[in-house]
Amino acid sequence: MTERVFITGANRGIGLGFVRQYLNAGWKVYATARKPEESEELHSLQDKFEENLKILRLDISSAESVEAVGRTAERLEDGIELLINNAGAYGSKDSFENLSPEQLNEIFDVNCVGSFRLTQRLFPLIRDVKGDVVFITSLMGSIDDNRSGGAYPYRISKAALNMLGKTLSEDFKTEGVYTLLLHPGWVKTRMGGENAKIDVETSVTGMRKVISQMDLEMSGKFYAYDGEMRLW
Ligand SMILES: NC(=O)c1ccc[n+]([C@@H]2O[C@H](COP(=O)([O-])OP(=O)(O)OC[C@H]3O[C@@H](n4cnc5c(N)ncnc54)[C@H](OP(=O)(O)O)[C@@H]3O)[C@@H](O)[C@H]2O)c1
Repeated sequence: MTERVFITGANRGIGLGFVRQYLNAGWKVYATARKPEESEELHSLQDKFEENLKILRLDISSAESVEAVGRTAERLEDGIELLINNAGAYGSKDSFENLSPEQLNEIFDVNCVGSFRLTQRLFPLIRDVKGDVVFITSLMGSIDDNRSGGAYPYRISKAALNMLGKTLSEDFKTEGVYTLLLHPGWVKTRMGGENAKIDVETSVTGMRKVISQMDLEMSGKFYAYDGEMRLW
């Protein structure tokens, strides 16, 4: 059976890396982007994987956009085996004194509420097939690992995202719906920058391996791309 994966923020960076690798592995991929018409990479992949790639428009910070993609997904499929909540934004690096509550809210609405919004809307399709939910979070959201401060919107929103994933895992593990929180490493993308330690291919290869091992014992835990469990 062909498995179906739904990926957010799929037009570039880590999301696009997931799209490439799952297509090459024979999966059916729902790749979402805020502006799909601007992604040359996704369209050239569609030429090659006509059957298995479906490109959908999605802005996870918009309730209307999430509702529209939810309706489309219901029409297209009977279920989704894997949802990868990858889309995310870093936001302001302003100091505590200068950061505005609005700047904090804006990033919280993408990184935490956006993933909640989409996961909740697609959940019936995931639950039906005992699918799994992955949240691409960050070590910067780890309270245990925070020894350098700063990056308030990013750190706070990713810490909350970790709690969303953990809570979801507790609520649905008896139904066979598992949840994983993944740190992709420091990756060379627009967000990670050129000095980052690893490339997208390495990060995604590692995370796909962790995802493929997901079970009840791993559900709700926080892992890095290298398979090591991390503290939050
Ligand atoms: N790179 C790293 O070192 C690193 C480390 C730890 C965690 N992460 C996490 O990994 C994930 C992917 O990051 P990346 O490095 O690939 O960053 P990236 O290259 O900046 O890509 C971010 C993606 O998220 C999308 N996005 C942002 N806001 C969105 C919204 N409201 N609705 C839908 N899509 C939205 C972007 O779409 P647009 O093109 O439309 O802006 C883009 O596709 C993020 O969750 C990030 O926090 C990255």
